[in-house]
Amino acid sequence: LVASMEEVQETYIMVKPDGLQRGLVGEIISRFEKKGFKLTGLKLFQCPKQLAEEHYKDLKAKPFFPKLIEYITSGPVVCMAWEGVGVVASARKLIGVTNPLQAEPGTIRGDLAVQTGRNVVHGSDSPENGKREIALWFTEDEICQWTPAQAPWLR
Ligand code: TYD
Repeated sequence: LVASMEEVQETYIMVKPDGLQRGLVGEIISRFEKKGFKLTGLKLFQCPKQLAEEHYKDLKAKPFFPKLIEYITSGPVVCMAWEGVGVVASARKLIGVTNPLQAEPGTIRGDLAVQTGRNVVHGSDSPENGKREIALWFTEDEICQWTPAQAPWLR
């Protein structure tokens, strides 16, 4: 666990349609930026049904699955790839637990949402899923590797 928290990882973060509709895109991006993670992919995107079903394929048998697909495809989402040491688990902490009423204040869901079915943001739950989901939502040329500018840019 300690080793995995020290390795550079990538995670797929998505502002869901309610987050966009409610004008929370900047706020959500800002939390990951301020934490110190690196944005490597970003786009506004109307998700087709087939992609939503593939993304959430592990939940296919759940009773809420049809409503979940309807929700995710109801309007544009903001797709993001973020990179950093231990970013997968840390992003999940920043996001908060699935039910926003149980999410701690200070987390995105804890501060900004009320309903499980309208919980404003997605974050990959493992490094493997981080890779899988980034490959699913982005083409390779949409991911940009970059090195943060050093002090001379700030002087
Ligand atoms: P899940 O992967 O369990 O949660 P998380 O997004 O925190 O990783 O579920 C995926 C999404 O499915 C969740 O964000 C909201 C929706 N969902 C419901 O609508 N009802 C439910 O009872 C659950 C568990 C999830």
